[in-house]
Amino acid sequence: MRIGVLTGGGDCPGLNAAIRAIVRRANADQVDVLGFRNGWLGLAENDFIELNRGSVTGILPRGGTILGTSRYNPTKDPQCLPHLKENWTRHDLAGLIVVGGEGSLSAALELWRDHQLQLVGIPKTIDNDINGTDFTFGFDTAVSIVTDAVDRLHTTAESHHRVMVVEVMGRHTGWIAAYGGIAGGADAILIPEHPFRISRVCALLEERKKGGRAFSIVVVAEDAHPHPDEPFVNEDQSNAIYRHDRLGGIGEVLAREIERCTDIQTRVTKLGYVQRGGSPTAFDRILATRFGIKAYEMIRDGKWGEMAAIRGNKIISVPLAEAVGELKRLDEDIYRVAEVFFG
Ligand code: F6P
Repeated sequence: MRIGVLTGGGDCPGLNAAIRAIVRRANADQVDVLGFRNGWLGLAENDFIELNRGSVTGILPRGGTILGTSRYNPTKDPQCLPHLKENWTRHDLAGLIVVGGEGSLSAALELWRDHQLQLVGIPKTIDNDINGTDFTFGFDTAVSIVTDAVDRLHTTAESHHRVMVVEVMGRHTGWIAAYGGIAGGADAILIPEHPFRISRVCALLEERKKGGRAFSIVVVAEDAHPHPDEPFVNEDQSNAIYRHDRLGGIGEVLAREIERCTDIQTRVTKLGYVQRGGSPTAFDRILATRFGIKAYEMIRDGKWGEMAAIRGNKIISVPLAEAVGELKRLDEDIYRVAEVFFG
């Protein structure tokens, strides 16, 4: 018997741990594993490698993915389906594990539901925005990177009596900002789920200064945006950044506004891709390993169209239809914890 695996969408720490677990668990049942390169493209173009114990040795602590990845979406390419099917038959695949975020898992759902490809999913993303699972792997590593950065920014902010704006990833949700901000002791956390008022942010920073705390840390998620009833004017008099699909830039705009409405020197750190590079934390290695083993067992048990997930500390499988379509917004309870420390 032979199965396939691919990693699609943005990379994140833990992908190699998941690949290793799939291979080790499948091989234990004498099942062969093919790894398709660069996401769905590999299956479309028959670009693959045979994975075995030797090829996954030593990859557990490595960031990125040994298979490569891409954002290629087969459901958006009308030429693609016959190639997927042809290569599937060529390798006589008993099933395919798609390790992906919202985009790759949505494609998996469509290909299973509309074209009967025998697929199962594993959720990965630093953003932690996939429904049906408490956590995705990659998130914990990103949060520790943000936490470390906020810790370091504290000491320089304090020495210079400055406001430090830290822009973090997360796409349309505030998971990374909230967790990283709470763990790092941020004085304000701005997230997409709660549009901010710049006047409130400035008042909070002034208040801290009056109270003898002349430095502050503001963590801002890349898609955080101002409340619609408070015009947010930046120096270019344009809000163009909100219309771009490619996010980022809010930190700079926010810092200019803070300097405009307070007399506090403000600096910006955009953490960017460092948040998803490098070695996974122990938590992410273990979660990815558990997901990998579960996904193999889901194939063995014919749980097509489902995704490995964690609820509480139990690994379960949930229908992909429950997981994709709508993003998992930040849990309000977490935001309420963060709010206690604002100011
Ligand atoms: O989804 C993971 C993520 O890192 C987001 O946090 C970020 O907005 C996006 O990917 C960046 O995507 P790209 O790699 O295409 O620039």
